[in-house]
Amino acid sequence: MQEQIKKIDNLEELQALYTATFGKNGTMTARLKQMKDLDNDARAALNRENTELRELFKSRQTEIENDVMMAALKGEMLDPSLNPMPENRGTIHPLTQALYELSSILESFGFTVWTGPEVEDDWHNFTALNTPKHHPARDMQDSFFLENGNVMRTQTSAIQIRAMEKVGVPIKVFAIGSTYRKELDATHTCMFGQMEGLYVDKNITMVDLIGTLRALLSRFFNRDIEIRIRPSYFPFTEPSIEFDMKWDNGKWLELGGAGMVHPNVLKNCNIDPNEYQGFAFGFGWDRMAMLKYGLDDLRKFYDGDVRWLKNSGF
Ligand code: DAH
Repeated sequence: MQEQIKKIDNLEELQALYTATFGKNGTMTARLKQMKDLDNDARAALNRENTELRELFKSRQTEIENDVMMAALKGEMLDPSLNPMPENRGTIHPLTQALYELSSILESFGFTVWTGPEVEDDWHNFTALNTPKHHPARDMQDSFFLENGNVMRTQTSAIQIRAMEKVGVPIKVFAIGSTYRKELDATHTCMFGQMEGLYVDKNITMVDLIGTLRALLSRFFNRDIEIRIRPSYFPFTEPSIEFDMKWDNGKWLELGGAGMVHPNVLKNCNIDPNEYQGFAFGFGWDRMAMLKYGLDDLRKFYDGDVRWLKNSGF
């Protein structure tokens, strides 16, 4: 029996043998029942056998349980010879990357970064920008209004006003941020990124504007960029232009709007237009990122799809 117990290597079998020995109809149970017929020595021997067997079962049970646990642990054991898990490092989002690059270029030109709220009041988003209520130019931008009359910022131009109100002149600032309009297709999303530059001082001219735009684009795209300007209309600039840049394939790409800050805008910020003048420009920050990194769907910028970012080289 002892040998038999030692050979058993699983709990079910051990339990079966235990029951066959000590159970109601077990062999040991039967023998114990006959104990009264035995002499003293034989009784003592049976008692000893009984105790020893029970202990043997018990210790074999512990051994088997330990073996089972060790086998399970072994399966989970750390194997330092295995290859490491593939690394999934985070990267900088193309929009953030473009923001860093544009900011550092403009800072090197002496511009200071500004920000403003994304929920704007009517004054900063429209009225101070020479676009009072009922001005037809408000139709150029499909705006999201809030019930209290505020608006989701439709243009970073609102930040020009905030900056001029706060620091006055001379001023040389730029802002990059999200803007909102009711538009949606492959090149438009309801939320999109804009950037804005503003330089007001004595004797600032259109030449400064064009030179700044050209230098900014050339630095950003790391080559000499040719630009073209076309007359346009914005309520907050006079004269107003739109500017295009020549792309690799020889085509002109529309980039943004600019002009000399309208005297009314300066007056709205308590700046004397007879003494000061300046330029402002605005264009798509996300569009710049698309062009530079060769991405074709603006909506993807805001999807948070890591696979797309990785496939796009980020
Ligand atoms: N805010 C204009 C827009 O969203 C772009 C723009 C045009 C900005 C002319 C300017 C500017 O600063 O001078 O369409």
